[in-house]
Order: sequence, then C-alpha cells, then structure tokens
Amino acid sequence: MYTDPLHGTDPAVTTTPQNITAQQREALDSALRVDQAGEVAANWIYKGQLFVLGRDKRAGPLIQEMWDQEKKHLLVMDKLQLQHRIRPTVLSEVAKVAGFGLGAVTALMGKEAAMACTEAVETVIGEHYDDQLKEMESLPHDHPSVPLLKDVVREFRDDELEHLDTAVENFSQRAPAHALLSSMVGVGCKIAIELCKRF
Ligand SMILES: [Fe+2]
Ligand SMILES: [Fe+2]
Repeated sequence: MYTDPLHGTDPAVTTTPQNITAQQREALDSALRVDQAGEVAANWIYKGQLFVLGRDKRAGPLIQEMWDQEKKHLLVMDKLQLQHRIRPTVLSEVAKVAGFGLGAVTALMGKEAAMACTEAVETVIGEHYDDQLKEMESLPHDHPSVPLLKDVVREFRDDELEHLDTAVENFSQRAPAHALLSSMVGVGCKIAIELCKRF
C-alpha cells in the first residue's frame, strides 16, 4: 500500500493511532526510528559491497538484487516515519558511513566475507523485526495503520531472512575467520540498534 499511489490518501497510510498510551507511543517512536536507521545502513552496506564487487559476475547481481529490496524497505520506512511523526535518528550520517565502510571492508576481504557480513547483519535484523512484531501485538488493532504496520514488518522480516539464506547459499560460512567476523558484525548491529532507538 505504501508504494501504490492508488492508496496514497488511505487513512491506513496517512494517520497515526491517537488512542494509545504514552508508553506505546514511545515504543512505536523508537521502533520506527531504529527501523528507518537500519534500512539506511542496509542500503549503504550493499552500496559499499557493490562498490568493491560490482564487476563480479556472480556476487554483483546478487548484491544488486538485495540492495533493490533494501531501497524499497527504506522508501516505506521513510513514509512510515512521516505518517507516525517520528523524529529520525541524529545518527543517520554515521549509519551511512559505518554501513558503507562495513560493506566495502568485508567485500575487500572477499566474496565470502561480504556474504558473511550479510549473514550476520540479517540474522540480527530478522530477529529484531520478529521481536517488534510481537511487541506490536499490544497496539490497538482498531486503527487501520496498525495491522498494515504489522504486515510491513512481517514482510521485511521475511525479506531479511531471505537475504540471510542467500548469503549462506553463497558460502558465507567459508569466509576467513567466519565466527569472529559474524560475532563482531552482530555485536556492532546490536549496539547500533540500541543507539538509534535513543538518539
Ligand atoms: Fe531491509
Ligand atoms: Fe536486508
């Protein structure tokens, strides 16, 4: 609905629930702020990977395909941010640089390391979206934006988990120092999530 101009004025995509507690509002606020930041970072990670591996016949198109999905994710998150009047993170420039750096550096380590980076990031993000989906159960479902928001989060979670599968199918686990690399990237993502929730 967010990408279909036919639904451009539908209350589900233009209004935010008024009958929610301050605590629920705050939870929604930080959830959408971190999601938007995450999709910004994801776009820059793939951009960084493609910068290095763009000419690789096998990895290039795969990365491009995942990036295209991240572009859609970000477009929808930008709309959600405006709809629910969320303050964007002040760290978005940091997220871009960190994302690009992470993507480029892992790609320089090789195709498998780039895939290991994707595997680690998408593991954390898939879980993150899944947790959010459970949290959103407590929101009042009589407002049309709420079921739609849950559909979006569910769809994105599934996309991220598909990226995870793509990475594993493309030998992420053959990356040098795979365990160390994944735990470093995973911890980095978790710290970034906590920072973007708050700032
Ligand atoms: Fe995404
Ligand atoms: Fe992703």
